[in-house]
Amino acid sequence: MVRKLKPEEQHWCIDPETGEPIINKGVANVCIDKTTISFIDGYHSKLYYRGYSIEDLAKYSTFEEVAYLLLYGHLPTKKELDDFSGWLKENREIPDEVVDLLFNIPPDIEPMEMLRTAVSYLGNLDPGRHDLSRDGIFRKAIRLIAKMPTIVAYFYRIKTNQDIVEPDPRLTHAENFLYMFHGKMPSKLHAEAMDLSLKLYAEHGMNASTFTTVVIASTLSDYYSAIVGGIGALRGPLHGYANVLAMKQFEEIGSVDKVEKWFKENIETRKKRLMGFGHRVYKSYDPRARIYGEVAKKLADEVGGDVKRIWDIAFKLEEVALKSKLAEKKIFPNTDFYSGLVYMALGIPVDFYCTLFALSRVVGWTAHILEYIENNRIIRPRIFYVGEVDKEYIPIEKRG
Ligand code: ACO
Repeated sequence: MVRKLKPEEQHWCIDPETGEPIINKGVANVCIDKTTISFIDGYHSKLYYRGYSIEDLAKYSTFEEVAYLLLYGHLPTKKELDDFSGWLKENREIPDEVVDLLFNIPPDIEPMEMLRTAVSYLGNLDPGRHDLSRDGIFRKAIRLIAKMPTIVAYFYRIKTNQDIVEPDPRLTHAENFLYMFHGKMPSKLHAEAMDLSLKLYAEHGMNASTFTTVVIASTLSDYYSAIVGGIGALRGPLHGYANVLAMKQFEEIGSVDKVEKWFKENIETRKKRLMGFGHRVYKSYDPRARIYGEVAKKLADEVGGDVKRIWDIAFKLEEVALKSKLAEKKIFPNTDFYSGLVYMALGIPVDFYCTLFALSRVVGWTAHILEYIENNRIIRPRIFYVGEVDKEYIPIEKRG
């Protein structure tokens, strides 16, 4: 006899006091493990990597130092940093097979889709790809952190019919990326902005893409599969791709005088989501957005032109949004609101913005994979069944 389940038949989901199922839609506020990698105080605009505030790291460190800190758990000594930076430099070149792949990727494939494919292919070419030991993961992580910028820069050069520019081992991670991308040495201000972006995007707790990588790693699948999964999750408009869509939204508005009308029509009336606003964890201003905003302003003043026009729109939009119902609901700018402006000032086309996020977040993904599988338990949640059971199977020829 077809029937609905009684609550006790899914007792693991039922709250004994209310008799109702306990459902954490979107896995909100569920802690899957303990961590020492980072802490977000979403009520007081604070973010710490391994105990160090993001403001201090933004001001005093470099991407290489932050990557070391996140992966190894402590700030490096001079020797440790030199070694680590040296390994990254030695690993920047990509195999010819991957260069060929970049030449052969269909023209309508966007940069994040390309990156997902290229990282997967890099995995195919690594004979140690199944090695899940700590050392094995470190080796592969160095390989990916070093090579992903080369993949992105080469893809841009190929897509725009320009010669590829090989990595220069004399340059830092940030300088070298901009050098390979544009084919010329970046200014000090631009190299610093790129380095800052790499630091700000490097880690952010158990966000959707990190969770994806950890879920994959928890099955004891391989490191490359986990990172490919992370890239896939990051590409979503509600996550990392918001940095692309925030910029497209500023372009759609067009000029600063149209901000209020656009906001009323799109956000208040049509209930569209304001891209680069809102966060699952922050119920206060995202500290990274504040830092990005300051640098974006500096760059907009320096570069002028379209960058300044977009900055004016973004700044006005923030002002309007913060006076609206969004602020009452604790919806504030997130890291993706101003990061695109920084990239625009660095001369990077908008469809590449999310890949720049990935180049950096691969560090946080790796740190969490290492931490989680140290004491691994497969991640396997439940879902509450509200359908029917014991239905009669009807042969196809007798169905409706
Ligand atoms: N614009 C308008 N309304 C919003 C926004 C927004 N950006 N964000 C949340 N809300 C509203 C929702 O409509 C909902 O309203 P309701 O309660 O009246 O139905 C309420 O706030 C809660 O929203 P949820 O979607 O439940 O919040 P959640 O924590 O699940 O989502 C998210 C967080 C996805 C980031 C959301 O704020 C959003 O869509 N933002 C826009 C996309 C974006 O910028 N993403 C980047 C996030 S940062 C990062 O991933 C790097």
